[in-house]
Amino acid sequence: MNETGLSEEEIQNILNYAKNRDLTYERVLSSMCTYPHKIAVQAHIQFMESNMGDFGLFRGTYDLERKVIRALGDLLHYQEASGYMTTGGTESNIQAVRSMRNLFNKKSDKYIRPNLVVPDSAHFSFDKISDILNIELRKASLEDDLKVSIRSVNSLIDENTMGIVAIAGSTEFGQVDPIEKLSIIALKHNIFLHVDAAFGGYVLPFLEDIHEFDFNLSGVTSIAIDPHKMGLSTIPSGVLLFRNPEQLENLKADTPYLTVSTQYTLTGTRSGAAVAATYAVMNFLGKEGYRKIVAQCMDKTKYLLKKMEHLNVEPLIEPVMNVVSLDVPSADLVREKLAIDFNWQVSITQNPHGLRLVIMPHVTFEMIDSFVDDLEQVLLSI
Ligand SMILES: Cc1ncc(COP(=O)(O)O)c(C=O)c1O
Repeated sequence: MNETGLSEEEIQNILNYAKNRDLTYERVLSSMCTYPHKIAVQAHIQFMESNMGDFGLFRGTYDLERKVIRALGDLLHYQEASGYMTTGGTESNIQAVRSMRNLFNKKSDKYIRPNLVVPDSAHFSFDKISDILNIELRKASLEDDLKVSIRSVNSLIDENTMGIVAIAGSTEFGQVDPIEKLSIIALKHNIFLHVDAAFGGYVLPFLEDIHEFDFNLSGVTSIAIDPHKMGLSTIPSGVLLFRNPEQLENLKADTPYLTVSTQYTLTGTRSGAAVAATYAVMNFLGKEGYRKIVAQCMDKTKYLLKKMEHLNVEPLIEPVMNVVSLDVPSADLVREKLAIDFNWQVSITQNPHGLRLVIMPHVTFEMIDSFVDDLEQVLLSI
């Protein structure tokens, strides 16, 4: 840090330089985030200093958080769900598993290292969780359609299994696991079932096709859903919902020197700005608004696939949501060439290997046209 500060103008120049080096979303087809909605940005700025870690000072923001939790509980078919706003899917997943582990450990006097059965398609946050919480991660294999294999899940469960994770919108393929069946398995073994709907939570309820993935299924005990992805809120906005208040309660920590005496959260200081932003955009758009946005994303997804037919490029699976995986030869090289020659940001899928595109609200038909032209060139050149 300099001894004396810089002028506002100097700072602004530095910031402008940094901002110019950032990519804009105009050529980004790899991200599950997008431009937040204008109304979310305004609310975020208005509540910038609000700290939900000490919400006794920010009662108004806290009320907004309670309303967000209630609205999402309602959307996901359990209005009484308890929970709180996290920094995103990773934190929601950590806390869901931490709660399972605590409740599992309470059942026995002697220490048992519990295991958690997750689909092979689970987000890498679960690898972090295994490390942080010292739990064994058992990865269940996938069927050809890239949904988790029920047979594999069943074969991995034993007396030390505390729960199962299901994915409602996998990061790589946007696939939804057979959660109805997983719910039955969880009930049968009396274990937890956490649904990672970080991406799909704001998509599935607004699609024409019905997918059972939420608290409607009685075995589902917790859900992660991210407003900072398809919810069009600002970063950092995640939400964790529990069916049973006991699941939240066991995360309690005493906070003697704050205005409130307990915290249930992983982080201490928390963004009230993200809470206000999420409240604002959800109430501005309503279900009708999200339905429209999801329908537009799906129209563009179909448009992209139609154009791919002309290039003889097939999807690896028929997209369930606005995540597309494409069967192209030498996907790594294609990705690299798209970036270097045409400035496109796309990502890849691991298994099966392919090109991955997320058709977020910032993706336009013109972007798709231009991308397909460039992809054609790349495919001809390799
Ligand atoms: C299914 C799923 N879960 C969890 C996460 C992690 O979310 P975050 O990066 O907000 O922590 C992601 C991120 O893409 C995801 O797709």
